[in-house]
Amino acid sequence: MNYAAIYQRSIDDPAGFWRDQAAELDWYRLPETILGRDEAGHDRWFTDGELNLSHLALDHHIEQGRGGQTAVIYDSPVTGQKRAISYHELRDEVARLAGGLRDLGVVKGDRVVIYMPMVPEAVVAMLACARLGAIHSVVFGGFQPHELAVRIDDARPRVLITASCGIEVNRVLPYKPLVEAALDETQYPPATTVVLQRPECTATLAAASGVTREVDWHELIQAATPADPVPVEATHPLYILYTSGTTGKPKGVVRDTGGYAVALNFSMQAIYDLDPGDVFWTASDVGWVVGHSYIVYAPLIRGCTTIVYEGKPVKTPDAGAFWRVLAEHRVKAFFTAPTAFRAVRKEDPEAALMAGRDLSALERIYLAGERLDPPTYGWIKSITQRPVIDHWWQTETGWAIAANPMGIEPHPEKSGSAALPVPGYQVEILDGDGVAQPPGQQGSIALKLPLPPGCLPTLWADDERFRRSYLQALPGYYDTADGGYIDESGYLFVMGRMDDVINVAGHRLSTGEMEEMIGDHPAVAECAVVGVADALKGEMPMGFVVLKSGETIDPAWLEKELMSMIRTRIGAIASLQAVAVVDKLPKTRSGKILRKSIRQLTRDADVAVPATIEDPTSLDAIREALAAVGVGTQTD
Ligand code: COA
Ligand code: AMP
Repeated sequence: MNYAAIYQRSIDDPAGFWRDQAAELDWYRLPETILGRDEAGHDRWFTDGELNLSHLALDHHIEQGRGGQTAVIYDSPVTGQKRAISYHELRDEVARLAGGLRDLGVVKGDRVVIYMPMVPEAVVAMLACARLGAIHSVVFGGFQPHELAVRIDDARPRVLITASCGIEVNRVLPYKPLVEAALDETQYPPATTVVLQRPECTATLAAASGVTREVDWHELIQAATPADPVPVEATHPLYILYTSGTTGKPKGVVRDTGGYAVALNFSMQAIYDLDPGDVFWTASDVGWVVGHSYIVYAPLIRGCTTIVYEGKPVKTPDAGAFWRVLAEHRVKAFFTAPTAFRAVRKEDPEAALMAGRDLSALERIYLAGERLDPPTYGWIKSITQRPVIDHWWQTETGWAIAANPMGIEPHPEKSGSAALPVPGYQVEILDGDGVAQPPGQQGSIALKLPLPPGCLPTLWADDERFRRSYLQALPGYYDTADGGYIDESGYLFVMGRMDDVINVAGHRLSTGEMEEMIGDHPAVAECAVVGVADALKGEMPMGFVVLKSGETIDPAWLEKELMSMIRTRIGAIASLQAVAVVDKLPKTRSGKILRKSIRQLTRDADVAVPATIEDPTSLDAIREALAAVGVGTQTD
């Protein structure tokens, strides 16, 4: 097949192109209107189609005679468990939980928040919501109560589904106290909390009296009658996934049902080149978009076997964990974040632990979630001798914007590049005035509208923020907030975020949110947080703080306090690397903090002094603070 021709058709005739893709799925009502508009004037895909994702991902395969095939392999080195779940078993479990949720009053359109570790029941919970047309919102299990509370208040769920604990390597982390703390903080607590009891730590469920009733997962499903899939419109929201924006309030990315199903099914062929029955392993977490799309929905829609891995690349028990899982389950395509491989490389630079593992089934390795730096790319390539495919996307898009189209026409790899635009995405490099840039010239990476199916139609209950965040800066385009360039042969190089979002170990975090929290500290007058390069985690947040006048707090003590505050407010994944007390922050004459200059200083000590700066000496204080923690030059 020819990538160029397929890509061109997707741009010249999007409706025809996506009509053909939609025809591959099992709809209740096949869409006739392929690209329409909603009342707010946004493009919407397949507006008159009707389907159900739980049906597509489960019942459809059973109808095709694949009910006995393994749908999910649960591999949990932290509990010593391994379990294969067939499509039939998964469907029955999902239908029962859906019946239980229905008994709790959940109907189409209701929100259900899911706060769970990497256990198959997290997948069951997501699919049970989809079965009813309820909108799930999965919150990453590593987030602290405050983050959970903020998401609950925005989504206003009828039910919260959680587990009694998560397990981090060898630490059992009880979830119940976290959930209780979150519910204490919320204005809109759910009517019911469903708790999956795990043997590693059982939670005591409260008597029926509180605001939120607590129900045991197993008791709920035992009493329930299985629910059939509820047909929903293609435009019906399947889920809300909160992601970091530039402020403390996360953005509720809305995902529709029909566009997402069509896009994921297409991606499984065009990018991942997988057929029904193939084993696909995405080592991520269901709390992130990568988990939603490629642990849960895409592999199951495609009839593959997916792996739910409850463990780490290292320490569970060692840096050979990836090779064990890949060999044992005959994984064909493997997807993870570059940080995970950097962690493996640090522990086992020669990949000695790969010895004796049969990786003959493994055909390709996919990386995303953060920039794949050339040294890491080179290392993965040399030790695995497989195609290493960097592909670039965002929570907002739900699937890859740029990738090597392995299932259409594999292209040569280029280190540092996420390769070519995926069919459906019109990728352009623009300057601040919206002028297209020539090859090799860096600028904002923008996507010409309409976005293809699967991408966000809006933000939950905040269409105004959707327009402001993504559509306003570059009219006619979706602004990705990433910067980069396209080379002479059309390859895209993504260089990093241009806003206040950073990427720590593949986790997307808001420096703006951290600034809001640090700014609340009684000793702090003002602050700035930026991402500094980190050899293992890609980036780490660092804070620069100006004390209130007369404040005498010991800077080392303050640093400790602020680090611990960020960990307990956001989560351990957001640990600050350092906090430096400075006399002043670089600002414009109108008083705006020059975060961009601070960011640049973390990479290059010789940054140009901006013309608008009020006091050029303020940059020296930042330079000194960075030098004190050994930052100031780029690592690759
Ligand atoms: N629940 C509770 N705590 C968690 C957690 C969870 N689900 N996930 C991470 N943490 C904690 C860790 O235990 C660690 O705590 P510590 O500072 O007390 O030791 C802290 O958060 C930092 O975690 P992290 O930076 O993630 O390091 P790690 O060693 O736990 O894991 C990786 C390393 C590579 C496995 C992990 O960072 C990872 O999976 N990254 C990729 C994320 C991803 O998939 N992104 C999506 C794109 S593919
Ligand atoms: P998230 O929404 O958590 O998936 O994070 C999206 C952000 O991660 C993007 O805007 C990029 O900044 C970064 N990112 C994801 N994949 C890549 C990649 N392959 N190369 C460079 N950056 C990436």
